[in-house]
Amino acid sequence: MVGNVSSNDVGIVPIDPMNDGLVRSWVDTQIAAVRHDIDGFPRPSPALQRLRLLLPLSSYRVERWAAVADGTVVGHLGIQMPAKDNLHMAEADLEVHPDWRRRGVGTRLLELLEERAAVNGRDTVISYAVDEIFDRPGTDTPGKHFAEKHGYAVADTEICRRNDLTKVDDDDLARRFAEAWERAGGYELVEWTVRTPEELVDGVARMEARMWTDPPMGELDIRPAVYDAERIRAEEQSLADRGQLTVAAAVRRVDSGEVAGYTAINVDPGEEEFAWQDDTIVDPAHRGRRLGTILKIANQRQLRRYRPMIRYVVTWNAEVNSHMIDINEAVGYRRFFRELVFQKKLA
Ligand SMILES: CC(C)(COP(=O)(O)OP(=O)(O)OC[C@H]1O[C@@H](n2cnc3c(N)ncnc32)[C@H](O)[C@@H]1OP(=O)(O)O)[C@@H](O)C(=O)NCCC(=O)NCCS
Repeated sequence: MVGNVSSNDVGIVPIDPMNDGLVRSWVDTQIAAVRHDIDGFPRPSPALQRLRLLLPLSSYRVERWAAVADGTVVGHLGIQMPAKDNLHMAEADLEVHPDWRRRGVGTRLLELLEERAAVNGRDTVISYAVDEIFDRPGTDTPGKHFAEKHGYAVADTEICRRNDLTKVDDDDLARRFAEAWERAGGYELVEWTVRTPEELVDGVARMEARMWTDPPMGELDIRPAVYDAERIRAEEQSLADRGQLTVAAAVRRVDSGEVAGYTAINVDPGEEEFAWQDDTIVDPAHRGRRLGTILKIANQRQLRRYRPMIRYVVTWNAEVNSHMIDINEAVGYRRFFRELVFQKKLA
């Protein structure tokens, strides 16, 4: 079939977690899209996709929709809306199966996105699209044309990097780690998995809040976040319930116990090859003492102790975030693709 789809061909339905056929097809479409669009990027974990439907984070209001033709999911839309802060914002992922593109499915999902954002009182929509895959010049990157066509403006530019742990030079890391500690007198490292130690949880909440405002984020309208120990506990419980492994590390002052920096890596359930670098932050009052390098090297090693067969860790940084990028390159991350962050203010 060629040409735009009529409303009879494609229906858009909320994803019912108990509808096994729908959920399976939704996951298959996501996997097909990743394979087609970014070869070498982690395939969505079928287990995690299902568990996300059943166990959403309580700090977000989440809607998930599927475009369905003949009982098969041909496109999908996820809308994440912060529930404790940033009540103006809706963050979207929107994807169409590679075999169903240029027939208007994406446009219909985008119309629904803007409608649902407005119904939920959100006036700022944020979405992501690949701009360029560095070792595959000429790859089709439709998302940016689609977003621009629909009035979305580039508000930030991010680079996705991948660290191939089989290529990491352990001796070099050991030297960097020792040198970093020479600059970090008066601090100590604490490592854990899954549950933040009680004496660190307030400090980690302070760090997580800063993640929303400290890193460079271009023109994105992202406002201060509200984090406390209760939110940290609720989020880590959700991740644990979903079978996601978190390995984390913090540095703190030996004298006062004050948390000065924090980092975390997550591994999806059933995943054997990839891990995701989550937030990393050093408090501005404690920067310039190599604490970021210490955190990154220590936590990468901790991941390797827990999951020695994981090969890649994936991370994103704003293209201009040179301090974090320098550390990432030093511990082995290499450029994979550029991603554009689009934003639209709804009238
Ligand atoms: C971007 C995406 C969602 C578009 O879905 P789609 O169903 O093909 O979109 P539509 O058919 O509604 O396209 C609407 C318009 O977007 C623009 N567009 C879409 N794909 C394009 C491409 N490959 N090149 C140039 N323009 C394109 C065109 O203006 C198109 O209108 P036209 O076909 O009349 O020229 C789909 O390509 C996709 O899933 N890409 C990967 C994920 C992604 O990038 N998501 C976007 C987040 S903002």
